[in-house]
Amino acid sequence: MKPVRIGLIGVGTVGASTALVLKNNALEIGRRAGRSIEVIHASRRTISQGMPAGTEAIPLTADPFEIVNNPDVDIVVELIGGYEPALALVMKAIENGKHVVTANKALIAMHGNEIFAAAQAKGVNVVFEAAVAGGVPIIKAIREGLSANHIEWLAGIINGTGNFILTEMRDKGRDFQDVLAEAQALGYAEADPTFDVEGIDAAHKLCILGSIAFGIPLQFSAVYTEGISAISTEDVLYAGELGYRIKHLGIARRTESGIEMRVHPTLIPEKRLIANVDGVMNAVLVMADKLGPSLYYGPGAGANPTASSVIADIIDVARTIDTDAEKRVPHLAFQPGQIADIPILPISEAITAYYLRLRVDDKPGVMADITRIMGESEISIEAILQKEPEPGITQATIIMLTQKIREKQMNQALAKIAALSSVNDKIHRIRLETLDAN
Ligand code: HSE
Repeated sequence: MKPVRIGLIGVGTVGASTALVLKNNALEIGRRAGRSIEVIHASRRTISQGMPAGTEAIPLTADPFEIVNNPDVDIVVELIGGYEPALALVMKAIENGKHVVTANKALIAMHGNEIFAAAQAKGVNVVFEAAVAGGVPIIKAIREGLSANHIEWLAGIINGTGNFILTEMRDKGRDFQDVLAEAQALGYAEADPTFDVEGIDAAHKLCILGSIAFGIPLQFSAVYTEGISAISTEDVLYAGELGYRIKHLGIARRTESGIEMRVHPTLIPEKRLIANVDGVMNAVLVMADKLGPSLYYGPGAGANPTASSVIADIIDVARTIDTDAEKRVPHLAFQPGQIADIPILPISEAITAYYLRLRVDDKPGVMADITRIMGESEISIEAILQKEPEPGITQATIIMLTQKIREKQMNQALAKIAALSSVNDKIHRIRLETLDAN
């Protein structure tokens, strides 16, 4: 059988590793794909850096449009990231009848609907396993492995850089900026690292996971997004005292009125497996009606893990390259005509438990005022921790855990509590999820 010919766009951390792994594991890959896979053309902006040692024979250009217009290329592998020129390149590749493998979560989350419609019309495949959770085959697991199930919710640690920062801060007391610089040096962080720390990268990935879990269009702008930059060491320590870990989670949950899609720091019980996912590792916990809970864990960023997913996609495309388009696995797991416009709920409608940290005057009646407001707002308190004031200080710190409540009710109660003259400073609130079956 003829080899499948790859055009590689981007020879950075992941692109270089993809070229090398395709070469070094060629025999095993060929045995799986049923034909050999060859990179016949590559592009990189900094052409002077050349191809990685061992792959120098691959012709290299500085112009990525040469790759998508090369008539000998069967599959375009886009590994440059970002919106442009990635979108123009992918659309041109599709127009030229080429299949596309991409690791670009921003592109899929923002422009996936348009890309998949074009690919469907042209009968080509666009695959994106490496876009979510790096080397963890979570797209395949949800799209194929769980296809018998009604998926109820999923919760994931889906940004390796953010998890690496939180872990190092907690375990070694390291400074935020110092850990971020290390994540950048290791090739984990996005070109713009605010995408990692402000939750945008995780929101791109959650948007994709939500679409394939529930069969809804990609709607990035509807994902509520909060990053890790406001998490303090104090909250990490208090959460620990109460038996919780703070993780940056992406949560997608189906409810009777719509779908919750939210990315934010979250307290989770430390006894949950996912609470112990540390460093650059990612994990996605999926609650499915027939399987129950299942957890997918592995390296969420880095050269070889991401190349592992890219190449698995290349092999999948190679296996079905001569197959009728409608016999392939649908891009968003559900047949294109079955994608449903289920509403995505605003964050004010999300139902979750809370961790609250308040700074109050240390005098009689303060706690009674706070609990009265909570009671009037139908918020049930699960636990209270009061920290003794330091000598000479007349203010105390109160930590509260509440039971689940609709976010807008919590907002109303917090506004009333903040207006009490005995409550000083901002009230710190972190959402809390028990991640059990309910
Ligand atoms: N910046 C991303 C992360 C890379 O840290 O998870 C993998 O998508």
